[in-house]
Amino acid sequence: MTQVTAHATNFAGWRSAARSLLHRGVAPHAVEWIDAEDAGLFAQAQRGAAEPAEAAHAGASARVPRHVLDLLRSAARFRAPDRWSLLYRVLWRWCAGEREVMSEADIDGERLYRMARAVRIDTHKMHAFLRFRERPPTVGAPRFVSWFEPRHDILDEIAAHFARRMGGATFLIATPEGSMLWDGERLHEGPPAQRIEEIEDAGEGLWLAYYRSIFNPARLNTAAMEQHMPARYWKLMPEARLIPQLVSDAARGARITAQAQAVGAREGARIAIAAERAQPERALPSDLDACRRCPLWRQATQAVPGCGPRDARIMVVGEQPGDLEDLAGRPFVGPAGALLDRALRRADVARDALYLTNAVKHFKHEPRGKRRLHKTPAQQEMAACRPWLEQELAQRKPEVVIALGATALKSLLHASTVDLTGMLNQPVHVDGRWLIASYHPAYALRVPSPALQEQAFEAIVRSFTLAQSLLARPSPADLAHEAA
Ligand code: URA
Repeated sequence: MTQVTAHATNFAGWRSAARSLLHRGVAPHAVEWIDAEDAGLFAQAQRGAAEPAEAAHAGASARVPRHVLDLLRSAARFRAPDRWSLLYRVLWRWCAGEREVMSEADIDGERLYRMARAVRIDTHKMHAFLRFRERPPTVGAPRFVSWFEPRHDILDEIAAHFARRMGGATFLIATPEGSMLWDGERLHEGPPAQRIEEIEDAGEGLWLAYYRSIFNPARLNTAAMEQHMPARYWKLMPEARLIPQLVSDAARGARITAQAQAVGAREGARIAIAAERAQPERALPSDLDACRRCPLWRQATQAVPGCGPRDARIMVVGEQPGDLEDLAGRPFVGPAGALLDRALRRADVARDALYLTNAVKHFKHEPRGKRRLHKTPAQQEMAACRPWLEQELAQRKPEVVIALGATALKSLLHASTVDLTGMLNQPVHVDGRWLIASYHPAYALRVPSPALQEQAFEAIVRSFTLAQSLLARPSPADLAHEAA
């Protein structure tokens, strides 16, 4: 059997060679494909090709639908010594009417899809992990340079992608197999390059500081991180050198939490003593973020302070930040906040006229799989946090305070038990201001029957209308003043 030699370096080259072979009816097993850089050699080989070994397809046209062509084009980027022969076999079989070649159940089809998938992943990783560094300005040299080591032949596509995004900013992407230069107008192919050494980049310090600040140790999952950002890319990304330290700091934090939990879980001897007295005598830190008066800071992302105008006349006190509040650093931004917003709209009260805060400023939770489940704060934690609430009350001087739920009510009344249902929407005078007990929005979301949910919601709405009407009356402080 006569062998035919064909050459290809890229999809376009393969396509034109394949078209000619197909037209002459050369069967796949009769073709030896060679990866060739030399276009001259390629042309010569094409001219000098021997007669076809088979002529079954002679004169056949290589018209193939777009989806087949796209798949072939994609798989052609996969670096494998036999890629051109596989592609030609698939093409040959397709043109012979074997439609099953495009199925993943077919041996050639399966390989083709697998190659295209690997190329897609490689492309995605290069888009995500390629980092440009800005060079000191030099006439004629690109402004940004980047080094990457793709697994497959995707450089031209990646360079075109960045050229569309970077406009007039010139760049060079270098890889061990070739390089691409964007001069602001056109892309130019270049030779393989040596690894570009570290370049001082003013923006890089900023990027590293930002990366460090968004790294959330409470959310760290190293297995997932390595799956999305495999370690082989780390050497190509400046921020990756921060990762080992950030991971070990996070692990240290987790160990401290685990120890604290283990010690806390021990059955100690019980001593009857008021919660306030059991607190170590520590001054209130100047900054809520620095508060270590109870262990909750260890598992929270941050302390969540209250927010609202300085002169708010109504203060709303919840229990503690939830999962989303812990991440955002603001109270009532999650589902409970959404219900609160609905109640405020019904009561015709503007949220931004209120001061919103919580009895406890750190998120108390326990991990459950990937979720962090809310845990009710203990008496001691409420007592440890109370000075912050008292400071807010002293600074804001609200005329009406609405306690959402039992924790807030206990904290505001300095009580270890309260009768929330008995006090519901019955304003009382406490420390010179009105206090209204209401349901917590999470209760209105959680209570099992829709009728009870509606009732709880209406009670919350009522608390706000009541608060509005109390503002129109003389405050308890004014009444006391008049009586004196
Ligand atoms: N629940 C609260 O008590 N406070 C918040 O800030 C959010 C949910």
